[in-house]
Amino acid sequence: MTSCPVTGADGTDTELIVIDPLVRGLAVEGARLRAAGPVAPVELPGGVRAWALTHHAETRKLLTDSRLVKDIAHWAAWQRGEIPKTWPLIGLADPGPSMLTFDGPEHRRLRTLTAQALTPRRVEAMRPRIEAITHELLDGLEAAADGEGRVDLKTAFAYPLPMAVIGELLGIDTVRIPRLRTLFDGFFSSLTPAEEVLSILEELGSIFASVLEEKKREPGDDLTSALLAAAEDGDHLTDEEVINTVQVLITAGHETTISLIDSAVAALLAHPEQLALLRSGAVSWEAAIEETLRWDAPTTHVLIRFATEDIDVGGTVIGKGEAVIVSYGAIGRDEAQHGPTAAVFDITRPPSRHLAFGHGPHVCPGAPLSRLEALVALPALFERFPDLDLAVPATELRNKPAVTQNELYELPVRLRK
Ligand code: HEM
Repeated sequence: MTSCPVTGADGTDTELIVIDPLVRGLAVEGARLRAAGPVAPVELPGGVRAWALTHHAETRKLLTDSRLVKDIAHWAAWQRGEIPKTWPLIGLADPGPSMLTFDGPEHRRLRTLTAQALTPRRVEAMRPRIEAITHELLDGLEAAADGEGRVDLKTAFAYPLPMAVIGELLGIDTVRIPRLRTLFDGFFSSLTPAEEVLSILEELGSIFASVLEEKKREPGDDLTSALLAAAEDGDHLTDEEVINTVQVLITAGHETTISLIDSAVAALLAHPEQLALLRSGAVSWEAAIEETLRWDAPTTHVLIRFATEDIDVGGTVIGKGEAVIVSYGAIGRDEAQHGPTAAVFDITRPPSRHLAFGHGPHVCPGAPLSRLEALVALPALFERFPDLDLAVPATELRNKPAVTQNELYELPVRLRK
């Protein structure tokens, strides 16, 4: 991440923060973003300008402000043809019609119909399966390890658990998972050329269209069949809406939870005194999970919202038609919300509200599922492998080049001493 001066309308220089497509230093990037104020001018990979929301209080307010919308038609630079079709983040900014990109009544309609399928009961009903998958994966860890008990915990545990859970919830055949993994890896990478991203989106669409056809022929006790059956005042989701909703749920529903599990394990192994508090029962696993979400938010930046009119945020004006990203990674360590030790991982801190699941109309509908997965996975892992340790110093863990996701390449651990 670098910065260069930008001259504002009032003639003063502000720092334009260039978001690093290679994600080489999230903590430093987050600190720079916060220091630039609640609304920071940024350059996204590919040279596209936007504003980043970086402070908790202002972001919380703006996330319920109807002048900030998801509809790309409000992006002036887009309308003027200034965003090249080759922009590498095009798939994240314009992922097609779904609840991610709709606003107002259209968005509420999709949320309401989806909520009928993704009910608290359906999530709770997944608990025994989450437990069973967790234990199966833990059973396989020793075999996946090398002679010294070293294994990449991401590949062998943190990745397959959320992917299996969301796949099973949606009724997606497990044979499709390896291909989905390849496609999503390409989709999230800031380095994938735009034309490849578009062909990935096309292939994903055709996979989920096949899933839909399977469920129409043979409905099951799964979320896709429930989405097909969902109705509100005689209104149903169209086939295209079901396909897009399934795509959004699986996209948003796996990488984030993988990150939560990876980050929690890495943070606890790097802070053994805090792990000891969990083991003794002095602090709850729920507290450790919330602290991980705050301190190391799985979704670093969410693309992209647009101002339908000028919005003044403490003297900085987001102009009508300008783009806005929500920098949840930076927001989680805002001292004004979390105190002077906000940059410190501390599972004993008094509970304070974080925004890792968003806020307002687009708040994450999958939060209960991901919390449940982490709550099953983490204690089971540390119980099964009490001597678990990082196989490399925590400072050597590297992020993948995915600007929206806080995603490690790998999490090398040693299962035993
Ligand atoms: C939206 C984070 C897990 C499905 C969001 C948003 C955030 C978020 C920050 C709001 C984005 C915005 O500002 O517009 C997370 C985190 C997770 C997680 C940190 C795990 C630790 C899940 C899971 C699912 C899911 C498991 C699916 C079962 C969605 C969907 C949306 C969303 C569909 C879009 C909602 C809308 O636009 O109305 N998530 N999420 N997420 N999440 Fe999650």
